[in-house]
Amino acid sequence: MKISSCIASSLAAGLLLSACNQNQPAKQATGNSSSSMTDSAQTTATGTVAAPATTSFGKTTDGTEVQLYTLTNAHGLKVSITNYGGTITSLQVPDKTGKPGEVVLGFANVSGYQSPEFLKSGPYFGALIGRYGNRIAKGKFTLDGKEYALAKNNGENTLHGGKKGFDKVVWQAEPGTSAEGQTLKLTYLSKDGEEGYPGNLNVTVVYTLTADDALKIDYSATTDKATPVNLTNHAYFNLSGGKDVLGHEVTIAADRYNVVDAGLIPTGELRPVKGTPFDFTTPHAIGERIAQVPGGYDHNWLLNSTTGLHAAATVYEPTTGRTMEVTTTEPGLQFYTGNFLDGTLKGANGQTYGKHAGFCMETQHFPDSPNQPKFPSTILKPGQTLKSTTTYKFGVRQ
Ligand code: GLA
Repeated sequence: MKISSCIASSLAAGLLLSACNQNQPAKQATGNSSSSMTDSAQTTATGTVAAPATTSFGKTTDGTEVQLYTLTNAHGLKVSITNYGGTITSLQVPDKTGKPGEVVLGFANVSGYQSPEFLKSGPYFGALIGRYGNRIAKGKFTLDGKEYALAKNNGENTLHGGKKGFDKVVWQAEPGTSAEGQTLKLTYLSKDGEEGYPGNLNVTVVYTLTADDALKIDYSATTDKATPVNLTNHAYFNLSGGKDVLGHEVTIAADRYNVVDAGLIPTGELRPVKGTPFDFTTPHAIGERIAQVPGGYDHNWLLNSTTGLHAAATVYEPTTGRTMEVTTTEPGLQFYTGNFLDGTLKGANGQTYGKHAGFCMETQHFPDSPNQPKFPSTILKPGQTLKSTTTYKFGVRQ
């Protein structure tokens, strides 16, 4: 999160959060916002980029029609996003032979995201997460002397916004184009008091599939009362084309991580990764040391750089040659290895999503920041504009 008025943020020990380095969201074309089908080719005869294709994604359980928007680029990348939860449902990326394949977990219809099994296990496949990504301890925090009680949905804690977070609401959608490629602009008004949070929060998220093979996500938000905000996306990646993710080689640009208690709430300790299974400063297969981490990886790393759009992580999958590079304006990265997936969910192609079927790289501020004064502040105030950008850039290594 970047706050445009450069209000000084709290400093974690030795961690400087610059609130002054702006990353502007992509400019939006006002163009085609109709729901007509367009050609899947992303360039029109006149050489301009066409708007994304729009198809039906079915009806939600309360009868609302939702859509699927498919953004393509000239290199065969294709991302599908629904306005239900702003969810990335599919992302096709070529492998080292040039053959496109699925690299995220997802379903073919909105019913997959509303099934009792999905809601019970709560994996948040591909969704936009808010108002507050990750956990707030005991579902409460105090702001300007007032205690706020949130909806608890993770034992005694609040996770990913509460019972009905941004992943479970229908967003207003506007497909379009920018100089960088096809775009989908999503907006949502989270009303004062929703899930217990103060203030009417206007949120805009712009997805762009760029000509240089990045999926870029620009988040912005304004509020009329001070409120904690921590926005992210919960895509589960798997670059292997169907195996588990343990063979993926990961680097994370972080020398420290947040130690958590049994409820996955940060204890406040920022521990150096050196000499631990959390050290991904050089590439390591996910599976190499995962057995030494009880439960698997589900932690927030403190990114070394916190200014501008900086390096967060890189991933390489040796059998397909696919690579993914994550950059962000956020100070943290929640690296989660699908530890709670248990095979009860089946994907769009009928594959079973078992333990470690995907991994998440949720760029974010730190969990439980509203209760941890030493962490970078997540409080957005009236008059400020939150701005945050994350890119997932794909490639291959031969
Ligand atoms: C985040 C959390 C995990 C888990 C997943 C969703 O990554 O840190 O503990 O709740 O979301 O299943």
